[in-house]
Amino acid sequence: MVKTLDVDSLIDQLTLEEKISLLAGNDSWHTVPIPRLGIPSLRVSDGPNGVRGIKFFNGVPSNCFVCGTGLAATFNKSLLKNCGQMMGQEAKARGVHCILGPTCNTARSPLGGRSFESYGEDPVLSGYAAASIVAGIQSEKVSACLKHFVCNDQEDERKAVDTYLTERALREIYMKPFQIALRDAHPNVIMTAYNMIDGEHVSQSKRFLQQILRHEWKFNGAVMSDWFGTYSTKEALDAGLTLEMPGPTRFRQIVQTSHKVYSNEIHTDTIDQNVRDLLNLVNESIKPDIGENIVERENDDPAAEALLRQSGAEAVVLLKNTGILPLDKKTPQKIVILGPNAKVCQDSGGGSASMAARYKITPFEGIVKKVKEGGNKATIEYAIGAHLDKNLPDVADVLVSKGGNSGSISVTFYQHPSGVEDRNELTSFEMTTTKVFLADFKAPKLDPNELLYYADLEAHYKAEESGTYEFGCSCLGSAQLFIDGKLVVDNKTKQVRGEAFFLGMGTREEKSDVQLVKGQTYHIKVEFGTSPTALVAKEFKEPGGVYFGFRLKSTPKDELAKAVQIAKDADTVIVVAGLSKEWESEGFDRPNMDIPGYTNQLIEEVTKVNSNVIIVNQSGSAVTMPWIDKVQAVVHAWFGGNETGNTIADVVFGDYNPSGKLSMTFPKRVEDNPAFLNFGSTNGKVWYGEDVYIGYRFYEKTKTDVLFPFGFGLSYTNFEFSNLKIKPVKSEIHVSVTVKNTGKIKGAEVIQVYVSPVESKIPRPIKELKNFDKVELAPGKSVSVTIPISIKEATSYWDGYKNKWSSDKGTYKVLVGNSSDNILVEGEFETDKSFNWLGL
Ligand code: BGC
Repeated sequence: MVKTLDVDSLIDQLTLEEKISLLAGNDSWHTVPIPRLGIPSLRVSDGPNGVRGIKFFNGVPSNCFVCGTGLAATFNKSLLKNCGQMMGQEAKARGVHCILGPTCNTARSPLGGRSFESYGEDPVLSGYAAASIVAGIQSEKVSACLKHFVCNDQEDERKAVDTYLTERALREIYMKPFQIALRDAHPNVIMTAYNMIDGEHVSQSKRFLQQILRHEWKFNGAVMSDWFGTYSTKEALDAGLTLEMPGPTRFRQIVQTSHKVYSNEIHTDTIDQNVRDLLNLVNESIKPDIGENIVERENDDPAAEALLRQSGAEAVVLLKNTGILPLDKKTPQKIVILGPNAKVCQDSGGGSASMAARYKITPFEGIVKKVKEGGNKATIEYAIGAHLDKNLPDVADVLVSKGGNSGSISVTFYQHPSGVEDRNELTSFEMTTTKVFLADFKAPKLDPNELLYYADLEAHYKAEESGTYEFGCSCLGSAQLFIDGKLVVDNKTKQVRGEAFFLGMGTREEKSDVQLVKGQTYHIKVEFGTSPTALVAKEFKEPGGVYFGFRLKSTPKDELAKAVQIAKDADTVIVVAGLSKEWESEGFDRPNMDIPGYTNQLIEEVTKVNSNVIIVNQSGSAVTMPWIDKVQAVVHAWFGGNETGNTIADVVFGDYNPSGKLSMTFPKRVEDNPAFLNFGSTNGKVWYGEDVYIGYRFYEKTKTDVLFPFGFGLSYTNFEFSNLKIKPVKSEIHVSVTVKNTGKIKGAEVIQVYVSPVESKIPRPIKELKNFDKVELAPGKSVSVTIPISIKEATSYWDGYKNKWSSDKGTYKVLVGNSSDNILVEGEFETDKSFNWLGL
């Protein structure tokens, strides 16, 4: 059992230098230990939809949950708590004390690159989702780090952008999820956002970190910067930014910082308070007794797999169904599966939320398995129909390593470049990807800060077809791709800056055509030099990385024609469409709301030859669906984690009756979105001009038709809501409603409670979600559900004159439905006094 640290006594014993050293990371994922005083190092790990573990590069594979917007779409607090708890358990198996998540920023625009990570457009849904995940994580005594406080809602110039918004929008929309999660679940850590608000970086803002977080909300945990999101020494320490991450420090170097203390620029009390917050976190983190030298292991607990599948299936939203779904598992038929996402598992969006999933089920595999399980003799045919990738695809699964392992490549690291007689081999291993980003890799045998070294990536490929293949290679560093010793792609002697890697670092993909003969085996080798060998993107102080891929060359027209041909006589066509981590990622925003490439054309053409077309869409936020009237069904499946394919098949074949509800509105056109005119950085600034009217708050107020509203999702059964009762109980109202399953199969329904003031002194949204619950019911069964709502939360708006929350005496409508646009029962309650409040 680890002994709790005596924080006061440690503050007496630590030298100033030791104190300063505690306030920044040791490396990417650890804090600094002080062995002399028994202070251990803490390990942290991303992230919001699972636990990556302590290595970004070549880490131990993880259990990847459906992305944040999908988790929120379950509208199921207890399920989310279970997911959080599973993440806490996984953290312990990884030696991780603090999970860098959940993310509860706001999907202000569908274009936000990281929208998929958070919980959508509604602050109350987002707050309850975040609170549930935090409660689950911390029930395992692992710390949750709620991020990114606050207004990190776009990726464009994310470290520099200065956000302008009204205090009301800040309070009612963007800070609200944090406020709810702090109130209900007390996360031990908060991570600051990269951006500025009102001309000041949040990570050094006394207003946000002292006044609001610590004084108004009484937060007494630790505050951590986002990675390289500390911008000052004195200001950040004064504001109470406990920890600069990652290490080694850029702003808290011993000599400079102690100089500032000795010269009374920084008060010793400030240092001590930050150290106190850090040591309190250490005390929290040693509670689960994880141990120092844990060997990371995969968590193959069947309960984890069952939970991934349950949460993934509950997240899936059935958007349209003319009656074609669920498909019958028993009747043999010809099913044609098309689309770029059919044979890949779109487990996560891109960036720090992504992780190597421990296993991956593609939609194709899920559907084939399901059909077989049902003993069905259905024939299943496949064609891609349209490509999605920005770069040529990861091809590891068709390669064989030097050691003869299928699905792998061999990677050997050297100190010196190819051609040098003694290259000094540093290490070698096999990888299951051809997209290698070294991130936190430290080459063994070299100084840990050494960024210059080399790697050869090698594998064999037995050509599946004869023809022209397109090979491509991009890098941060330099790379040359050889086939049987012949240089094919040169991304070394000439380089053009491009978008390689999630933060837009590196070169563009260079490509070259090569003739391959079916059945012949080719030796592929990529000689890579790390970032100091680059000609472009030289500003990144990272080791870098290299991506390579190839595919049989074809035109979009050829792919489309093949798909249309096999779709013609199919009984059912399933097109698996959408985005991928190349399009929706940390590091950049989406350029538009459309599904990229030729997928929309594919769907249009296929609907011309077959009238039974089902679309499965995978994206973390909204996409346009120009073909919506021509297809029979649309299943929205987010980025679904390890179990992606199974959860899609569960819903498509009716083994799971869909119960997911959209965590964000799908507008018809991106131009309809309230943030359309003010999204992205303009000369370093972004103005949240739509104020509190984001998502349904805007579409309802402006009577703008949408494709699918917030909270919407179909079921294979029907529900009836009746018997609404509203009872005041102390500081709450209890809203009860009877829910009946009037259909023929079991199903779950979400009860969404919105409140709307009958009269208001100030303009307010038509209605706002205040709480929700979910029930599962057998056919014919009914249940009375009671949902408590705090009166102050139900009634208050931010009063910009008083700078407080205001609850005005009056009458409030309670609107209960199963979607923001489908209110089924209504009632009212009255309040008999006006009041103001601050705090949680
Ligand atoms: C992200 C954080 C993440 C951190 C560590 C940053 O780029 O913004 O959310 O926790 O990296 O990976």
